[in-house]
Amino acid sequence: MKLYNIKDNAETINFAGAVKQGLGRGQGLFFPEQLSPLANVDALLEQPLVPRSVAILQHLIGDEIPQDTLTAMVEQAFTFPAPLVKVDDHTYALELFHGPTLAFKDFGGRFMAQCLATLRSDGKITILTATSGDTGAAVAHAFYGLPNIDVVILYPEGKISPLQEKLFTTLGGNIRTFAVQGDFDACQALVKQAFDDEELKAAVGLNSANSINISRLLAQVCYYFEAVAELPAEQRHKAVISVPSGNFGNLTAGLIAKAIGLPVKRFVAATNANDTVPRYLQSGDWAPNATVATLSNAMDVSRPNNWPRVEELCRVKGWELSDIASGMLNDEQTEDALKRLFAQGYLCEPHGAIAWDLLNKERGKDEVGIFLCTAHPAKFKESVDRILEQDVELPGPLAKHNAMESLSETIAADFAVLKAKMMG
Ligand SMILES: Cc1ncc(COP(=O)(O)O)c(C=O)c1O
Repeated sequence: MKLYNIKDNAETINFAGAVKQGLGRGQGLFFPEQLSPLANVDALLEQPLVPRSVAILQHLIGDEIPQDTLTAMVEQAFTFPAPLVKVDDHTYALELFHGPTLAFKDFGGRFMAQCLATLRSDGKITILTATSGDTGAAVAHAFYGLPNIDVVILYPEGKISPLQEKLFTTLGGNIRTFAVQGDFDACQALVKQAFDDEELKAAVGLNSANSINISRLLAQVCYYFEAVAELPAEQRHKAVISVPSGNFGNLTAGLIAKAIGLPVKRFVAATNANDTVPRYLQSGDWAPNATVATLSNAMDVSRPNNWPRVEELCRVKGWELSDIASGMLNDEQTEDALKRLFAQGYLCEPHGAIAWDLLNKERGKDEVGIFLCTAHPAKFKESVDRILEQDVELPGPLAKHNAMESLSETIAADFAVLKAKMMG
């Protein structure tokens, strides 16, 4: 697989290089040089998740990873299902929260850990990542205990749910966590500064694990195929997929799936009040506001990192950006959506509820709607219990970590402070 840097097209790299390096020169994102269509999508859709995912990843990655190695990696990473649950005759929930940390990030995080373990050269590496909630847990659990790999996770202090926080700040061992006095954008800015610092990069063998890493995106492509595969055959060409979006990695993966032949009619980019993208798609003006805290905190991002990939994909495929439907819900509307969805018999959490409501507004009469449920409702227990007047049960892993002591350290949103901690 060959990739190029979107900001500096002369910089090209293979898959292994892109996985290890994360970002290109000038903080540019890597993008695949080729996204050719898969040969027989209908036959692929008949296969189970793991062999189908191996075929998709082999098609994208090429011969850099032998098929038996790739099969073993996918078998280790995708150890849980992604069921498509019927909500009504024309609406389905794709539940992506059946992995060990109960969020869709388990797909990308676990496949990336497999990639790094397989493709790494000798020497120590440090995974540095910023999380707005769920990446931290997925990455921490995927890498926990792996030899010669340290993990450093930054998250905005007080701005992620207490349960989300407990899931990754209680591990210890090779996992260090910092609560940054700032918002998620400040955490992302620190990560970017770290990757621009040659001294730090060399000293700790820096590597990134947030959704800018191409291996994570490729893993996510696989569950879009799973969603369509689980539809009744007569509905497979009618799907509109609504994606709760923050950093826009998830939507990028969906668009890559479409680019290689998955029959999806349209995507809906669903956001909360941090609605830079829906406003941009309507007005053509890129005008990020200050990030505001919302109920769907994992989407509290006003400068989405992956957006340049969405634009690049549309450019190379000749798609119009305006073909992407979009919309936003404020917190009041999110609460209302969560209640209406619950009244229909489906227990969700704020991120999925936003995607569901905006899907309903967008789906045409003869279309089938799929909304992505990116986290287990218990991960947002405080708000879900309050809004729905329920007592959502904590699944096993959450209950265990919730009872443990957080090992996190609070730091200022100051790169010098972070660097000193990491070098020390
Ligand atoms: C529960 C949940 N939903 C949605 C998102 C947004 O996904 P993306 O950043 O890929 O747009 C996240 C990201 O952290 C998340 O944790």
